[in-house]
Amino acid sequence: GTARPADLIIFGGTGDLAMRKLLPALYHSHRDGRLHADSRVIALSRGGLDDADYRGKVDAEVRPALSGGEGWDGFLRRLHHRTVDIAAPEGWQGVAGLLDGHEDRDRIFYLASPPMTFGAFCRGAREAGLVTPLSRVVLEKPLGRDLASAQAINDEVGAIFDESQIFRIDHYLGKETVQNLLVLRFANAFLEPIWNSLWIDHVQITVAETVGTPGRRGYYDQAGALRDMVQNHLLQLLCLVAMEPPSRNDREAVRDEKVKVLQSLRPIVGSEVDRFTVRGQYTAGRADGAEVPGYLDEPDKNQPTAESLRVETFAAVRAEVRNWRWAGVPFYLRSGKRLPARRSEIVVQFKDVPHAIFPGASPNRLVLRLQPSEGIHLRLMAKEPGAGEVVLRPVPLSLSFADTFSARVPDAYERLLMDVMSGNPTLFMRRDEVEAAWRWIDPIMDHWNGSGMLPEPYPAGTAGPAGAHELLARSDRAWHEED
Ligand code: BG6
Repeated sequence: GTARPADLIIFGGTGDLAMRKLLPALYHSHRDGRLHADSRVIALSRGGLDDADYRGKVDAEVRPALSGGEGWDGFLRRLHHRTVDIAAPEGWQGVAGLLDGHEDRDRIFYLASPPMTFGAFCRGAREAGLVTPLSRVVLEKPLGRDLASAQAINDEVGAIFDESQIFRIDHYLGKETVQNLLVLRFANAFLEPIWNSLWIDHVQITVAETVGTPGRRGYYDQAGALRDMVQNHLLQLLCLVAMEPPSRNDREAVRDEKVKVLQSLRPIVGSEVDRFTVRGQYTAGRADGAEVPGYLDEPDKNQPTAESLRVETFAAVRAEVRNWRWAGVPFYLRSGKRLPARRSEIVVQFKDVPHAIFPGASPNRLVLRLQPSEGIHLRLMAKEPGAGEVVLRPVPLSLSFADTFSARVPDAYERLLMDVMSGNPTLFMRRDEVEAAWRWIDPIMDHWNGSGMLPEPYPAGTAGPAGAHELLARSDRAWHEED
């Protein structure tokens, strides 16, 4: 188990993230013996539940989604619930009752709640005397909705916690293949010499989902794909592809290199936004084998508003990293809901060989598949067997993680929660990273909001709006689709 006992306090403890991700991750850590015997999970919500109610709720809602339930009862005994409403200070007394006398433990506040509650929560915890020197705070994304709101939140949280205590989570950084990207780049010799504009034509980063947004209108109308996915997950992936080799695998060295990439992004402003970005919104269609409604007709307790009409469920951007290594290499990013398949990948498209002696060669391509079926695939040219004319054929050199390693691939949250408990922030976003990302996103958002245009419609289950295709076709390129 971990060396020290910890109290993990989840604000938003009955919410979707807690139920779908955090509790399963904690259960797996418990089952695998990575939680100290005395560590506790204290869920906070406005729900008015007691410990028994909460355990019953988790038993009913979380357990069925897990395979196997070894040690489940022991896990349930770690769980507690206290009612806290940040608008009403009384609730804090209940939390204090559980925490008093445990100041020697690591104390982790996990804010799985909307970002506008972060400041008030931290102040409430401080006023109730709960913030100890061994405390840390985890902030879920998106951090704010633009640069100004992100700075305000960072200031508010920063007034209570030191930067070294603040863990801004981007769960993509906890995914196995994403961590493998750094190992692939920096623990192998053959890639780095060709990892630049001399050899690479362009990079594609795709995070495609088949899910829609039923029941999420309240959040999604305010977010959209650019804020929900591109500002954080896709830009973080871009950073890992584009960053310079850090001198050490340590928190500041890695994050220093990432922030330099974000600061090197060429700003996309004004009318360039129309040229270099695409947004779409799904209409009714077929996805996941069923007829599904369009975004505006998703079942939800909130009715669609003028905002719903304008919100993008698909975004694509042609980005450029302005530095010596990447000059002139486009990074195409795209993410969307209700696309034909769930598929996240990074595609590095190499240039043609400098001098072709065989007809019919196509350039090398390295595909890093993040999900599903994590793996690395390199397209090579080979000669077809035969005594006649030389015929070239692209063949894959493939590494499937599932076939190569027998260990269970842990969920990203499992890894990241363990990192928070052991105090390792390498895979978390530093304040300057988040703000640099917003600085680049803001002008795109501003232009979208200022133009009277609506997102391009695309039927659910299709590859996104036509504009996304044109974004690459203009330069004789195409999105990599399933082989
Ligand atoms: C979340 C977004 O951050 O990531 C969701 O808010 C999205 O909209 C999810 O569905 C995707 O994560 P994963 O791990 O399923 O690819």
